[in-house]
Amino acid sequence: MFKHAIVRRPSRSMLSGITTSSYLGKPDFDNALRQHDEYIKTLEKTGVTVEVLEAVEEYPDSCFVEDVAVLTPKGAVITNPGAPTRKGEVELIISTIKQYYDDKDIYRITNPGTVEGGDVMMVGERFYIGKSKRTNEEGIKQFTKILEGMGYSVVAVPVNKILHLKTGVDYIGNNNMLVSGEFIGMDIFESYENHIIDDNEAYAVNSLLMNDKIIVPYGFPSTLEMIQKLGYETLVCDSSEFRKIDGGLSCLSLRF
Ligand code: GLY
Repeated sequence: MFKHAIVRRPSRSMLSGITTSSYLGKPDFDNALRQHDEYIKTLEKTGVTVEVLEAVEEYPDSCFVEDVAVLTPKGAVITNPGAPTRKGEVELIISTIKQYYDDKDIYRITNPGTVEGGDVMMVGERFYIGKSKRTNEEGIKQFTKILEGMGYSVVAVPVNKILHLKTGVDYIGNNNMLVSGEFIGMDIFESYENHIIDDNEAYAVNSLLMNDKIIVPYGFPSTLEMIQKLGYETLVCDSSEFRKIDGGLSCLSLRF
């Protein structure tokens, strides 16, 4: 069960966040704030307490707090983002993590290793980690050593065509895995019930398992219906302004 979530308010500088989705246009900042309010309320409906951190103008992508830490029941890993403009974000999160974890249970990924939390997917006692443009071999080596030390297993997954692992594959509990694009038919995930999300709804792969509910992004009716037919209670949340800078529902919080 998740008890807590941490989010960071978007900054006006999000308009210059890193993006491969400029065809969607620039984010509307006021609407992004409204969507962020809604996101917080939606998380609260799943039973967690949400800590809301202040916006930081210096870092356009800093609302995507998921990338700067991996929080587990046994310890926390402060990451080292592969995107140069995001590296400084880790220093902003440390004092918050220290409120929840003892110093001895806080670990760090260090240069030349890079890891972003969007590349990390927790499935019970196993963690999948994407080798992507943001998470490198050395980062995976460090992450594996840390997580194995906590008693978890770690499996590396190649990510070639998209930003982060969880942009394209997501675990929603009960052995159900949402898969799209390059992850369809991948041996690594063959022991799960694979549910293919078509390209036109691929953004909705990044739906969020939160306790007994799944949060699904607004505007993806086929995925919503499919998840409901699997028997889940769903909540819908509009994250379209964050999508314009490559952000999904999971990117916007740390959950633990
Ligand atoms: N804009 C989110 C990222 O590229 O990290």
